[in-house]
Amino acid sequence: MEQIRRTKVVDLLQLEDFGTTVNVKGWVRTRRGNKQVNFVALNDGSTIHNIQVVIDLGKFDEEFLKPITTGACINVNGTYVASQGKGQKGEILATAIEVFGTADPATYPLQKKGHSLEFLREIAHLRPRTNTFGAILRIRHHMAYGIHKYFNDKGFFYFHSPIITASDCEGAGSMFQATTLDLNNIPRDEFGEVNFKEDFFGKQANLTVSGQLEGELGAMSLGAIYTFGPTFRAENSNTPRHLAEFWMIEPEVAFNDVNDNMDLAEDFLKYLIAYALENCKDDIEFLNEMFDKELVERLNFVLNNDFVRLTYTEGVEILEKCGEKFEFPVYWGADLQSEHERFLVEKHFKRPVILTDYPKEIKSFYMKQNEDGKTVRGMDVLFPKIGEIIGGSERESDYDKLMKRVDELGMNVDPIWWYIESRKFGTAPHSGFGLGFERLILFVTVMANIRDVIPFPRTPNNVEF
Ligand code: 4AD
Ligand code: MG
Repeated sequence: MEQIRRTKVVDLLQLEDFGTTVNVKGWVRTRRGNKQVNFVALNDGSTIHNIQVVIDLGKFDEEFLKPITTGACINVNGTYVASQGKGQKGEILATAIEVFGTADPATYPLQKKGHSLEFLREIAHLRPRTNTFGAILRIRHHMAYGIHKYFNDKGFFYFHSPIITASDCEGAGSMFQATTLDLNNIPRDEFGEVNFKEDFFGKQANLTVSGQLEGELGAMSLGAIYTFGPTFRAENSNTPRHLAEFWMIEPEVAFNDVNDNMDLAEDFLKYLIAYALENCKDDIEFLNEMFDKELVERLNFVLNNDFVRLTYTEGVEILEKCGEKFEFPVYWGADLQSEHERFLVEKHFKRPVILTDYPKEIKSFYMKQNEDGKTVRGMDVLFPKIGEIIGGSERESDYDKLMKRVDELGMNVDPIWWYIESRKFGTAPHSGFGLGFERLILFVTVMANIRDVIPFPRTPNNVEF
């Protein structure tokens, strides 16, 4: 077969030069036709759209064409011509075809019929070949790029916080341990405790639940930073919103108070939604058509309306008075559940909500304490269909107050001595937040389950692929 430079389908679909010879490589979505001519819909992942390859059966041997079935990978040379059919500008009249890889119709699971998202989860190694997952994964890419672009344009520095740490930022104790100890022969000290001195790092280590503590040190030197990396939580919560391994974006800014932090969060989310609408048009339109006809409308709505800002106390009052039956009780001091958050957003205010000033008991040790002695300057951004999409706060920058809280909570300061010390040397007000990347992708793709917005999800009892 003659060597011709490959053109991606996404570029072919823009091509106006009819009559040129092109090469395309991709996976067969469907093949149909009659005794004279066959039509192959070919997709190469560069776009949701397929290119049609027209095969004249007078020019190709029927036996040779047999392995060209759904899922097979082929290499095609041909003439790019104006299309007779509607819905596409051009198509390829094949002059030479090579079959790179066959896909036996008896065993290839992605035949033409639609498959449930649950079934596709079991074949996560193949699901990126479907329209739905192709769309989601391209959107995921564009959103990641948009995040870097947003911060770069605003003068934030990408700060690489460690994946392996010895501290527990959120204090929730839901950490995966990182160890090289032989679990069948654990070394013990004289008290019978695990002797971590013999472990790789000489002390107990774990996978990070958040890059925030290190990120704060970045902000206190570079001014404005963000992290963007994988984080790990061993919470045994089998919900459509939780992963054991998820990606988090954590900006941290020196001199920002909680109001600046809210402004940043709102501006950031709106920028990303606008970015998706602009850069993922075809894929979002596909999801809008297939899964939820209000998707584009909802994205535009969030873009064009101010987020409502109120305190946790005001939010709880609304929930107590609303007369709605909730599964979990609401009272001042309760940690709000997804059903409460979604009530405020979807039924009461009908727009995104930022709640602030939470009871200190339900928030982490590092949040700035308010004068009332009861609440802290935390802020959660709540989104329709998602609930909490961002969690953040102004940080406690006063050494004595931070130490007092650490003592109250009975925390071991050994693993975070360096964090505490940052309040002794040139401390300053600062704020930040964490955006759950997959929660953002859920919102933009209108998927209902977080397992469907990451290529290979990690959840309790699932580490396949
Ligand atoms: O509210 P969280 O726990 O806050 C923090 O980790 C702070 N250290 C962030 C900061 O202030 N720098 O998590 C932040 C966000 C949540 O709002 C949610 O979107 C997401 O991370 N998230 C999860 N996403 C998927 N699976 C999980 N198990 C998640 N836990 C939190
Ligand atoms: Mg939170």
